Amino acid sequence: MRFDFASLPAPDRYKLMVSTIVPRPIAWVVTKDAEGVTNAAPYSLFNMVSDDPPVLAFSSGPSPATGTRKDTARNVLATRRFTVCLVPEAAAAQMNVTAADLPPEVDELVLAGLTELPFGDGAPRIGESPVAFDCELFRAVEIGKHLLVLGRVLAMEIRDDCVLDAARRHVDTPRLGLIGRMGGGGYVRLTDRLEMPRLTPEQAMALARR
Ligand SMILES: Cc1cc2nc3c(=O)[nH]c(=O)nc-3n(C[C@H](O)[C@H](O)[C@H](O)COP(=O)(O)O)c2cc1C
Repeated sequence: MRFDFASLPAPDRYKLMVSTIVPRPIAWVVTKDAEGVTNAAPYSLFNMVSDDPPVLAFSSGPSPATGTRKDTARNVLATRRFTVCLVPEAAAAQMNVTAADLPPEVDELVLAGLTELPFGDGAPRIGESPVAFDCELFRAVEIGKHLLVLGRVLAMEIRDDCVLDAARRHVDTPRLGLIGRMGGGGYVRLTDRLEMPRLTPEQAMALARR
């Protein structure tokens, strides 16, 4: 079945895209506002987009209540710093609390009973998250009512027990216990791994000839 996006309202396009572009990693973005109040919210329009320079991106839509920029986007533009924490299953319910549409003066980490930890000279990180990226604003791109935030990664923190071999940069990914976002209110555990080594051109051609 073909869906022609030109004739579909935005919520329908959203539904079709988020229920097929899955699973999406979740960036739990922590920022400070100009008064120093901490803000945290999950963003699943998120991914790594470059390793050199190391850049990740998330996209913040308009607030459903006001139609204006969400607190995260405003804070990133004002301070140029943010932390991206990845979300483990153990903190899923607390992540969901931080997704509520709350006024800017509410510190979502306090509300959700999460631990705020200092993280270099940037925004804080969430103690319950096993992976955090310290980011500075690389570029912000307006896409309709969305703000695509590109962040240069200055440093990352991985929980010690999840690092298998620091010198070789080997990480115990399953131990991170991360969840991904599906469509609607759905999430997924990353426990069903499929191994598939890359093929040389010769191997690929030999397989195609069979
Ligand atoms: C798992 C999850 C993923 C989300 N992803 C996004 C997203 O990619 N972009 C967005 O604008 N809102 C997203 N939201 C909604 C925001 O988290 C929500 O609007 C939040 O209140 C924004 O907070 P802020 O105003 O403090 O930035 C998501 C919510 C959940 C629960």
